[in-house]
Amino acid sequence: MKHFLFLIISCSFMMCSTAPETPLSQYSSKDRKDTHSFAEPSKAICTHLDLTLKADFKSKTLTGTARYDIQHDNADEIILDIKGLDIASVRVNNAVVEHTVKGNDPIKGSALHIPISADSKSIAIDYSTTADAEAVQWLDPIQTADKTHPFLFTQGQAILTRTWIPCQDSPGIRISYNAEIEVPEALMAVMSASNTTSKAPNGKYTFEMKQAIPPYLIALAIGNLEFGKVGARTGVYAEPSMLEKSVYEFGEMEKMLVLAEELYGPYLWDRYDVIVLPPSFPFGGMENPRLTFATPTIIAGDRSLTSLIAHELAHSWSGNLVTNATWDDFWLNEGFTVYFENRIMEALYGKEYADMLSLLGHQDLEHEIKDLGAHSHDTHLKLNLAGRNPDDGMTDIAYEKGAHFLRMIESKVGRETFDAFLKKYFNENKFKSMSTTEFESYLAKNLLEERGIEINTDEWIYGAGLPENCPVSRSDKFVSVEKSLGAFIETGAIPDDALTDAWTTHEWLHFIRSIDKDAPMDVFKVLDTKYSFTHSGNSEIAAAWYEKSIHNGYYKNITPEIERFLIQVGRRKFLTPLYRALKENKDLETAKAIYAKARQNYHSVSKQTMDVLLSE
Ligand code: BES
Ligand code: ZN
Repeated sequence: MKHFLFLIISCSFMMCSTAPETPLSQYSSKDRKDTHSFAEPSKAICTHLDLTLKADFKSKTLTGTARYDIQHDNADEIILDIKGLDIASVRVNNAVVEHTVKGNDPIKGSALHIPISADSKSIAIDYSTTADAEAVQWLDPIQTADKTHPFLFTQGQAILTRTWIPCQDSPGIRISYNAEIEVPEALMAVMSASNTTSKAPNGKYTFEMKQAIPPYLIALAIGNLEFGKVGARTGVYAEPSMLEKSVYEFGEMEKMLVLAEELYGPYLWDRYDVIVLPPSFPFGGMENPRLTFATPTIIAGDRSLTSLIAHELAHSWSGNLVTNATWDDFWLNEGFTVYFENRIMEALYGKEYADMLSLLGHQDLEHEIKDLGAHSHDTHLKLNLAGRNPDDGMTDIAYEKGAHFLRMIESKVGRETFDAFLKKYFNENKFKSMSTTEFESYLAKNLLEERGIEINTDEWIYGAGLPENCPVSRSDKFVSVEKSLGAFIETGAIPDDALTDAWTTHEWLHFIRSIDKDAPMDVFKVLDTKYSFTHSGNSEIAAAWYEKSIHNGYYKNITPEIERFLIQVGRRKFLTPLYRALKENKDLETAKAIYAKARQNYHSVSKQTMDVLLSE
């Protein structure tokens, strides 16, 4: 009877609470220790956030209050992460208390210590962002698509949410949130939460994210936005001039969502929308729950770059449902996502198409290993980023070595078995975080041991470079591309139009990547005249061509176009290889001259990388 009563009480508690009680002891295990956060979750955690902010585009500040429900076991303090925030006052159970700010680490920022006692149920921090809010980019109208209104977006991953919200900024700690955001009347605010589809006449927007998420997934964008419907659960937010193009480009989003669910179980976030941001967005995409943030450079006009949407959508399972416990376990987010992305693309467009994508990924992986050094510890899946910026771990190792590891396991156990395993993995670990060690034992218990299968997991996870049993896909389409290029180089014969007219973006990418950088400059001239790569409207093709041209020397003929691209686009994946190529080819002068004009357009994440690259 006593047990029964307890069950009723605890169940009803769980039903009315937004975030169920989490045993704090789970945070004590050594392999879950997050070296990039000051929070001490085994003592006290935040469970729910009520965020109230006003966005002032004149002073470029967000001002307001972060109020949290907290959970603790008689702790005497709760610690939050902050970086470059102006803290005005702190309250506990609504009474002002003395807080302390400790440390000032260039990467992690500072620890905000708030004294609490046994009866403390909530904390509230009144604060303002400063010019040092690295997550936030305030854009002038000229930096947007329509050039009529200012814009703001945030980028939280990996440890930047603390620069605009005081929080326990660790991927192993989850909170639900509500927000009230006030913006100038002409603008619309959207978040990684429930969103409206039209402007509020008073500039006040309210949001609810019921599911508990790690703070790096809290995101905000403000601009002159409109909404366009794609399917029953999917849609696009974009500036007016971008909306129609975006709705067309992402026309297959609803199908992707259904295919993803067929693979690994129900989508648990209600809606899936995408916002197309201005071109300074430093990433291709960011999987903010319910609302992926995307670069406009994937709007190619022909839906050829939408594997990026499949990728961000896949994160709704790998990353947002099951989250890496620390940034050392980043491959659990990205490796699984690249694997899943490829499966969605295969389901949508067939195996030939997916094989081209995975082969391009394999090429990236080989380059990455060469760049990092085959013996580098940074080529291990499990990283050690203590004392470093977690951004250093954002390499193709996590993405591609991670995905290849999963493909290898798939090849050993068979697709059907592996799919059932993944579906179960996502379901049993949903809304939790996972460390590499925990994944290893989950894999052993739920897949390998019962089948008596032995694989070299240790070598994959803790070893450098690529193990011998790394699977490589084959693509007849790529073989045909290589043949055409070979014939052209040998005899000067331009490939048949009938052939190249049917090529997809991926075949063109393979074609450009396969050109020998030391080929005579004439080869570049002839190809550019014939195919206009320099003026390609496809950002991937243009960027690959510019990079190859820089390595060749042909770029001197097309410097204005490269400069225009680098000033316009802030996506780090494009900037790094181009500036690096200029540097490697002893033209640091051109690199620096372009950067001097372009830097003001970049988000802090891209600025940081280019500052280091161009100063070395
Ligand atoms: N979550 C990442 C972006 C990210 C990672 C931001 C680490 C900050 C720190 C996102 O899902 C991603 O991987 N984006 C890729 C695209 C993808 C298709 C490989 C990108 O932006 O290039
Ligand atoms: Zn990703």
